[in-house]
Amino acid sequence: MAKQASHYVCQSCGAVAPKWSGRCESCGAWNAIIEEPPASAAPGGLGRGGRGNRAQKLEFHALDGPAESLPRRTTGIAELDRVCGSGLVAGSAVLIGGDPGIGKSTLLLQAAAGLAGTGAAAGGGTACTYISGEESVDQLRLRANRLGLADAKVRLASATSVRDIAASLDGEAAAGVVIADSIQTLYVDSLDSAPGTVAQVRASAQELIRLAKTRGFTLFLVGHVTKEGVLAGPRVLEHMVDTVLYFEGERGHQFRILRAVKNRFGPTDEIGVFEMTDAGLIEVANPSALFLAERRGAASGVTVFAGIEGTRPLLVEIQALVSASPLATPRRAVVGWDSGRLAMVLAVLEARCGLILAGKDIYLNVVGGLKVSEPAADLAVASALVSAASGTPVPEDIVIFGEIGLSGEVRSVGQTDTRLKEAAKLGFARALVPSQRGRKSADSADGLKVDEIDHLQEMIGRLSGE
Ligand code: TYD
Ligand code: MG
Repeated sequence: MAKQASHYVCQSCGAVAPKWSGRCESCGAWNAIIEEPPASAAPGGLGRGGRGNRAQKLEFHALDGPAESLPRRTTGIAELDRVCGSGLVAGSAVLIGGDPGIGKSTLLLQAAAGLAGTGAAAGGGTACTYISGEESVDQLRLRANRLGLADAKVRLASATSVRDIAASLDGEAAAGVVIADSIQTLYVDSLDSAPGTVAQVRASAQELIRLAKTRGFTLFLVGHVTKEGVLAGPRVLEHMVDTVLYFEGERGHQFRILRAVKNRFGPTDEIGVFEMTDAGLIEVANPSALFLAERRGAASGVTVFAGIEGTRPLLVEIQALVSASPLATPRRAVVGWDSGRLAMVLAVLEARCGLILAGKDIYLNVVGGLKVSEPAADLAVASALVSAASGTPVPEDIVIFGEIGLSGEVRSVGQTDTRLKEAAKLGFARALVPSQRGRKSADSADGLKVDEIDHLQEMIGRLSGE
């Protein structure tokens, strides 16, 4: 019988290789590859049930039985609660990923303080434990002072050994919220690999999640994501936890966006908007007003897009700049939008509307550091490009949204009414939208003059002076 071949697994990135080598081909780490037993040898099937392993019959249930509603704890930070699905579920694990320095520790310390309550009000608060593997207790205290949270009843510890942490989490802490910052610094002493490797990250998280489930506390895990993906990212954890949140933002901007990408207890695509100030993160209850706060009259190449993020409408400014290019391959620089989508809009403008932008440098920017991923932004982007190319400003009091098809048709998008309501609330007078088939023209929804179009050409006509 042929000998079962072992396989070799990189402990830094998880890549599998057929033979050993000193350096991992996929992540470049040295001395990270170790031999693991062949996969088929591990489970070996169920066999014949020897050693007295009697199988137990499962009890099957109907779908429509009574369901226990999950009790939730609110953190007092409304934006965080909404992204988690109206509060934290006991026994669940939440992973917060994000670039270093984006504000994960700050957000969690503020949430912990909100849960625990401060000073005299701490009577009914939740027991909160904040374990940091990155900062000392003194550093955490300094941060709490800076945030004005020094009298919150949060239990702090600086630790990295999962065995020590597990041994300390009993009694009152077991009922509350535990924050582990960050998972890359923790280690399980039964493994040889260094903290931050795939094996350690996975084993530490598994151990903490098991504790959270058995003792019923809500677990927050912080994970760093590096741009190069050098460190074993928290991606391997996404399957193990109940909720994955990403905290994002542009470095130069004060806005921070918390986005749910997986949630077993609530909606995904929900976002929370924060502003980083010198007194910590402040919730932004009305993001549209904030994103439009710095508008300066009508200029060419500037459009307001009425978008939807999760369940909320969000108006953002989209800016385009078109200039003659000295380069053989003109530059296409995009911030906050998909560059593939820009290429498509440019191609449709050229092929269906005769607007030639080849040979021009094009810059596109979503103001405020927001990342827009909706196709509904197509029409707004197209109008910004047309306006920038022609030098004619888009009227100031108009919002635009709609998806563009490859034949230049403008396609309808969801939640039109929500978008229009938000625009009316912020004082816009007109909207350029896809025509609503099978629906009466929504003229003057909330006093907004709604202009419905079917084709991109109509938009160009409207912008060049009706
Ligand atoms: P931090 O929460 O430490 O980031 P992370 O845990 O994601 O690595 O945030 C660090 C940044 O936030 C740092 O650059 C300073 C800034 N900051 C403020 O602007 N205001 C504040 O009140 C605090 C505490 C931090
Ligand atoms: Mg931190």
